[in-house]
Amino acid sequence: MNITIKQALDVAAAELSQSDSPRLDAELLLAQSLSVERSYLFAYPERILSHALRRRFDELIRRRSKSEPIAYLLGEKSFWDLTLKVSSLVLIPRPETELLVETALALGSSSESLRVSDLGTGSGAIALSIAKARPRWHITGSDISLDALTMAKKNLELLGLNNVALRKGSWCDALPSGKMDIIIANPPYIAPGDPHLSRGDVRFEPVLAMRAESNGLKDLQTIAAQARRKLALGGWLLLEHGYEQQATLISYLLDCGYRDVEGKKDLAGVPRMVKARWDCPASDSNPVNLS
Ligand SMILES: C[S@@+](CC[C@H](N)C(=O)[O-])C[C@H]1O[C@@H](n2cnc3c(N)ncnc32)[C@H](O)[C@@H]1O
Repeated sequence: MNITIKQALDVAAAELSQSDSPRLDAELLLAQSLSVERSYLFAYPERILSHALRRRFDELIRRRSKSEPIAYLLGEKSFWDLTLKVSSLVLIPRPETELLVETALALGSSSESLRVSDLGTGSGAIALSIAKARPRWHITGSDISLDALTMAKKNLELLGLNNVALRKGSWCDALPSGKMDIIIANPPYIAPGDPHLSRGDVRFEPVLAMRAESNGLKDLQTIAAQARRKLALGGWLLLEHGYEQQATLISYLLDCGYRDVEGKKDLAGVPRMVKARWDCPASDSNPVNLS
């Protein structure tokens, strides 16, 4: 039976009733199947879909109805002013993470030549957004996952930026010699056993990108402790954290010897990140219990 664009969208939107945005999801997936802009669907609702296209669209709708994230089905996600390639091997960049980018950019001007690192870069979202906005800054993006670095490299090449180096390794151990002016990270911070890890779209994302021991604080604390030996005097550490972790993280950073420690909220009013300055010459002098 022949089916028009409008009919296909109506059927698909009904099948995706569990989604927060069934109609939009259907439109994005049909536009992807047809390799057209979404506006084409509104301009030609009466066009008939070929059998091959309909099969391709039905398969995407079937996967979406099982909660596979729309970004993985489309193979891309918008972040800051970039469109980044993503796959199920990397975390889907979140809009709230743009607060880290905004805060980092406010710490220096385009005419300066700051050294910045993005630990746990994933698809490269933070590193590449900053690199594009500040071509004179030197950015290092690192990750322990080779799959993530492969995706970050693909995005770097597509954007044609020449001020980003990608390195493999665990947190600050991955960084080159020398000090950094800004260290940024949104490491895993969800506690093992948190029900969010086994619900909806999140189930399709890499556990390595989300789950952290010690009630979700382990990686945040490791980075805070390690960054003291890599930050230049007066350098800044910017950490994204979970919505209930800000007070604990602030007191940990103060124990570590950081100054000017400040928590920030995201656009939804949720405590989302902490900014802290390192100006203590005797780095690593005060041991901090990581448990
Ligand atoms: C929450 S994701 C953030 C990804 C990316 N920054 C973004 O915003 O889309 C955390 C990232 O940290 C990486 N990661 C996990 N453990 C790590 C470690 N020990 N050292 C370095 N990176 C790690 C994961 O592979 C993942 O890419």
